[in-house]
Amino acid sequence: MGSSPKIAIRTLETVPPVMVQIQKLLREVKDAISLAQGVVYWRPPKQALDKVKAFVFEPQISRYGADEGIVDLREALIRKLHKENKLYKSSVMVTAGANQGFVNLVLALCDAGDSVVMFAPYYFSFYMAFQMTGVTKILVGPGDPMTFYPDADWLEQTLKETKPPPKVVTVVNPGNPSGAYVPEPILKRLSDICSDYGSWLVVDNTYEYFMYDGLKHSCVEGNHVVNLFSFSKAYGMMGWRVGYIAYPSEVEGFGAQLLKIQDTIPICPPIISQHLALFCLEMGPEWVTDQVKDLVKNRALLIEALSPLGKDAVKGGQGAIYLWAKLPNQYQNDFDIVYWLARRHKVVIVPGSASGCPGYLRISFGGLPKAETAVAAERLRKGLEELLAEGMVQ
Ligand SMILES: Cc1ncc(COP(=O)(O)O)c(C=O)c1O
Repeated sequence: MGSSPKIAIRTLETVPPVMVQIQKLLREVKDAISLAQGVVYWRPPKQALDKVKAFVFEPQISRYGADEGIVDLREALIRKLHKENKLYKSSVMVTAGANQGFVNLVLALCDAGDSVVMFAPYYFSFYMAFQMTGVTKILVGPGDPMTFYPDADWLEQTLKETKPPPKVVTVVNPGNPSGAYVPEPILKRLSDICSDYGSWLVVDNTYEYFMYDGLKHSCVEGNHVVNLFSFSKAYGMMGWRVGYIAYPSEVEGFGAQLLKIQDTIPICPPIISQHLALFCLEMGPEWVTDQVKDLVKNRALLIEALSPLGKDAVKGGQGAIYLWAKLPNQYQNDFDIVYWLARRHKVVIVPGSASGCPGYLRISFGGLPKAETAVAAERLRKGLEELLAEGMVQ
């Protein structure tokens, strides 16, 4: 008798995906409103969707395309990187979303057993990508308690003391789940530290256009820096699955190594989606900023809804689509609070423990138009008032 086959320890020891748990909760609770998933409420520009409709019947749509992405899109992205991000020495690989781009990078840059750095609160999918590829030495650095700026002094000390130095340092700017941004001088300092100690810096710019109150997003470039981007949120293209990696052109063989991974996982990103992305780019960044500008109204509604938690409890939200709220000290089990709020008050949010911070909550202000956000905000406020006055009453 043979023994039964086993599932990989790497995968068994990877934390479960919080959004799958949250989606299950949403299915269970009738009429629940979601402030949980990191999505936007708009769809891609109508002109772009109309154009792509005509393309569906083209034979090349149904074939495999170039692994690294269709030429026209890659050329358009290089122009966009020059013009908008001031990245002049980067090559582009299009991926089936930024998450897949990140997995490509982890597979290309890290060996099992390497150490890496993330900053708390971290983006849960990237944590999982490290774990499931055998990169289990994940050093989690602190952010400033008020601003969540990554602690550059801590990074310098850590890279100095860790032998060999961590392979990859990741930063999400602006951040998921905090909604905090990384000011340019700090980003440059993080980049300099990584360069000094021979670590890669991977910066996720998924929310590059989601900046408020006059703040500006910026990128850094260097032969040790890789930038990640996504069409998902900016152009409402979540389900079309398009993102891209901007990697240093001068690093010999980088593209060739990435191609090994790309050819093994998606082969190529979906061709129809790449055409839609190209048509979206033709609309220009103004189309995106026009959608994004009204999100401050949603943010204001939710800041007000979170006010029962106290003045200093709610942070972040300078960028991206998230607020980050601290629960009162007696409520460290944020999962319980999330389930209670969903079942009793029919509003769903994300527990902070998924990002390494028990006792916190992530609230998304991007997924619903203003009127629905107002309904969700009202439920959230009532729920928090009840929690603070009477606890988790059933
Ligand atoms: C910081 C960050 N990176 C990447 C992603 C995933 O983007 P994509 O849909 O392009 O895979 C998300 C989605 O929530 C995100 O918040």
